[in-house]
Amino acid sequence: MYAIQPFFGLGVQLSRGNSRFYKPAFLREIWLLGLPLWLFQEFPIRGDDLFFTLCHFRNVWCRSLSLPHIKKAQTSGSEPCLLMYMSILQATSIPRPHEARAALKEQLGKRKAFLVCDENTSRLCLPRFPELQSLPRYVLQPGESRKTMEQVLEFCGSMQMLGHPRSGLIVSLGGGVVSDMAGFAASIYKRGLDVLHIPTTLMGMVDAATGGKTGVNFDYVRNALGTTHFPVQVLLFPDLLETLERDDLLSGMAEMHKHAFLAGAPHWERALNMHFDDFLKPELIHWHAQFKQALVERDPFDKGLRQQLNLGHTTAHAVESLLLKHQVEIPHGFAVAAGIDFEMRLALELNTGISEDEVKRTSQRMRDFFPPLPHALLQANAIVHFMQNDKKNRRGITFTLAKAPGEILTGVEVDEAIILKHLQLFLHARNA
Ligand SMILES: NC(=O)c1ccc[n+]([C@@H]2O[C@H](COP(=O)([O-])OP(=O)(O)OC[C@H]3O[C@@H](n4cnc5c(N)ncnc54)[C@H](O)[C@@H]3O)[C@@H](O)[C@H]2O)c1
Repeated sequence: MYAIQPFFGLGVQLSRGNSRFYKPAFLREIWLLGLPLWLFQEFPIRGDDLFFTLCHFRNVWCRSLSLPHIKKAQTSGSEPCLLMYMSILQATSIPRPHEARAALKEQLGKRKAFLVCDENTSRLCLPRFPELQSLPRYVLQPGESRKTMEQVLEFCGSMQMLGHPRSGLIVSLGGGVVSDMAGFAASIYKRGLDVLHIPTTLMGMVDAATGGKTGVNFDYVRNALGTTHFPVQVLLFPDLLETLERDDLLSGMAEMHKHAFLAGAPHWERALNMHFDDFLKPELIHWHAQFKQALVERDPFDKGLRQQLNLGHTTAHAVESLLLKHQVEIPHGFAVAAGIDFEMRLALELNTGISEDEVKRTSQRMRDFFPPLPHALLQANAIVHFMQNDKKNRRGITFTLAKAPGEILTGVEVDEAIILKHLQLFLHARNA
């Protein structure tokens, strides 16, 4: 799975004392030249020093550079040495939809595969894949409330009982709930094996299957347990959406709106003028999957840039957790749409630079395009309580907030009293 990635490009000599080379600004200059770089280390190094050095670089690169990510290095002993990097991941490939069938055939030809789907995708999607029908399979119970550690463990137990090898592959066929659990199982079973996702919902295609975040809900907290485990491939078959409920299609469209906002003004303008069916075009779906993948590749471990994808999500996850506690499930995207609406207003209050007009038209779009939440179950202080448990938090509750389309602030800590006050106003206005 790990591929050595030799770098051809600029050579940089590192020695004790020339610490300016370690500085992000310097590395960024090299990156802007468009050249990968060779690093030469001129002093003898022990394994630990080397690892430390690489970790240091990894932090820098993960934040600002689009380079392969470092797992291990090979050196030529204590001589001045050439570092070669091993990539932790082969960047996930996302073939165009018309190439997906051939890619699947190729993957299945390589090794033993184990299929995981849910009861609905087993019934509605599996018949479209003769090549998957003879695989050993585990069928999960569908739904957010079933995204649990228990299901992951049962699935692992089933693979173990059938002796599925570490060199094998897991193929997931399902929406975000299935790919999150399949990815989680793939990351822990026998210390990790490859996973390939065939997303069957729009949410899965444009978002959940890509990016390697895996996990389950725990104690009502959304995705509280999980890992980062990148799929080897995401295969898009947009025809699978024919059987999906309208609400689940809308749910995916919320993330597509978010991507369009992150991508900048021209994309955002276009999205605001699009109708329901326009969002279902195969090439557009592929664009969205690639858009997310490109952000993830530049910051795979979520140190900075990737956090842009959390726009609307501090609120969305807290709302979903609260509803989960009330045993009410709503499509993830509906919570995201409401989250974007609220967090735009918060950005305006905090003077991030967002214009009042932008907030108004975003809010209008979220209300016109997406259904309202069950507001009677939402109390501002209960939402803030769940926000306190958000994974993105640093010292306090942390948001990704907008300045303008394409201009996003990440890691913004906001005072709880301010959040509470504006949530109350927001919920009141939504109820009115
Ligand atoms: N890992 C990530 O980066 C990431 C990103 C976004 C969302 N997510 C997660 O994804 C989940 C939501 O995903 P989702 O919206 O796909 O929900 P889902 O997986 O629950 O699917 C929604 C429903 O549609 C059914 N279904 C799936 N495909 C179908 C098809 N082709 N035809 C008919 N029915 C079908 C499912 O069985 C389910 O009942 C949430 O748990 C969310 O946390 C993860």
